[in-house]
Amino acid sequence: MRYERYLNTRRINSKMMQKSSLEFPPGPSSHIPGKIVRSFVKDPINTLSKIADEYGDLSHFKLGRLHVYLINNPDYIEKILIYDHSNFSKGPRLQSAKRLLGEGLVTSEGEFHKSQRKLIQPLFLPKKISSYGAIMTDRALRMIQEWKNGSVVNIHSELMKVTLSIICKSVMDYDMESKQARDFGNAFSITKKYASRLQHPLGQILDRVPILPKVAQAKGAGKTLNTIVYGLISERRKVIEKGTNDKSFSGADLLSKLIKVQADDGSIMTDKQLRDEIITILIAGHETTSNALTWTYYLLSQNPQIERRVFEEIDSVLGGNSEEYKQLSIADLPKLNYVEKVFREAMRLYPPVWTMGRFVQNDYTLGGYTIPKGSSLMFSQYVMHHNTKYYDNPESFDPDRWTEEFKMHLPRFSYFPFGGGIRGCVGEPFAWQEGILLIATISSYWSMRLAPNQSVKLQPGITLNPKNGIKMKLKSRQRSS
Ligand code: HEM
Repeated sequence: MRYERYLNTRRINSKMMQKSSLEFPPGPSSHIPGKIVRSFVKDPINTLSKIADEYGDLSHFKLGRLHVYLINNPDYIEKILIYDHSNFSKGPRLQSAKRLLGEGLVTSEGEFHKSQRKLIQPLFLPKKISSYGAIMTDRALRMIQEWKNGSVVNIHSELMKVTLSIICKSVMDYDMESKQARDFGNAFSITKKYASRLQHPLGQILDRVPILPKVAQAKGAGKTLNTIVYGLISERRKVIEKGTNDKSFSGADLLSKLIKVQADDGSIMTDKQLRDEIITILIAGHETTSNALTWTYYLLSQNPQIERRVFEEIDSVLGGNSEEYKQLSIADLPKLNYVEKVFREAMRLYPPVWTMGRFVQNDYTLGGYTIPKGSSLMFSQYVMHHNTKYYDNPESFDPDRWTEEFKMHLPRFSYFPFGGGIRGCVGEPFAWQEGILLIATISSYWSMRLAPNQSVKLQPGITLNPKNGIKMKLKSRQRSS
């Protein structure tokens, strides 16, 4: 079915090719230098949405000297990410992130990426990550036990903390709540901020001036992180080599599993490879999920009738009639159907990764146009997820739209919060499990309403953050019976 659609696209392409092979697709052109760049800096989502609305499936514009193609057709995106992926790289901006992430899954390319992916992906299969379910619910319970009825919390910061705690425990068996973890927490947060700064061209230039305080601070933070992560790798290797008589060692953490995996030629990962993959997964695996959950709670606070249905489902799964809820476990996941739809719909309206890009390696034919080598391709989850072609009333929060039939008829890349293909999100099963378990845990005890006097604004960086977070007033729940 998918392949037929791809062939269809090819047929359309070849017909259109005869018409116009070396022209640019339509798109905004500005005679005022820098006008589009300024518009992007000011409001990237609105700028992309307007271009897609006006020019359709494939448009072209220039950002400085760079030729950019905005792809707004799910079949084209499928062709790029699935069938022709080897003709694209992630591009030069990512090179700067290598300074911090090394050659982990997000930043590596080509054969090296492929072989690492082959080793790591099986460890993220739903069965393999089920043991992290208890960590997820336990950390969520610890967070909500600190909350007070009637108080106001910044839900974004709370969820950032809890998702970091979950990923550190699952990946390295590391307790972020312990005293020793304070250095790690500080170093991690400095490193993350600095990684975003490096995405900016000016940040990259300033990075070459080592005496600048921010540069020196980032270097120090990088050293601290390395010391801790290499220390954990060495400890874990020793325990594994000795054999595991140590009862406190379960070997369930991802690092222990990564230490043991073997490539086809029997080789194992070096300490440097392990370090790069671990830091990459920690960074890729917590801000995205916390943003998805923050927007979920924002939407629930605005839609009490949907929030009520979430409560009803949780109560029926956890035993709303008894005095105490039973302990939530991953065995309950298939029963949390409505919660799953809520999470899915929240990621449609507010996709944590709101845009993606690729660079063209060799001239490429798409939609009847030849896209020259070196051009940049953009596709935006945000723009696609709000497209009236695929979603009725796209601005409304409607979890009920996600029927099996609706999903079956939706083109694959009209909903792609996790990307797709060989570079799609390796942590997707982890994110679904974590998202649903956290919603079910939090909403079994708490209802939230937006605290007064704040306007919620989008801040589209690498992920889709709420500007200044979101403050919520907490209300202890009356359970439905
Ligand atoms: C709601 C949560 C998440 C969202 C929306 C999300 C989204 C994405 C997207 C769109 C990509 C592909 C980027 C591209 O192709 O350019 C990606 C890649 C990746 N994600 Fe996630 N992610 C989430 C959670 C996670 C988690 C929990 C982990 C790890 C535990 C993780 C680890 C990764 C890694 C390692 C990659 C790079 C994969 C590769 O290139 O082979 N992500 N993610």
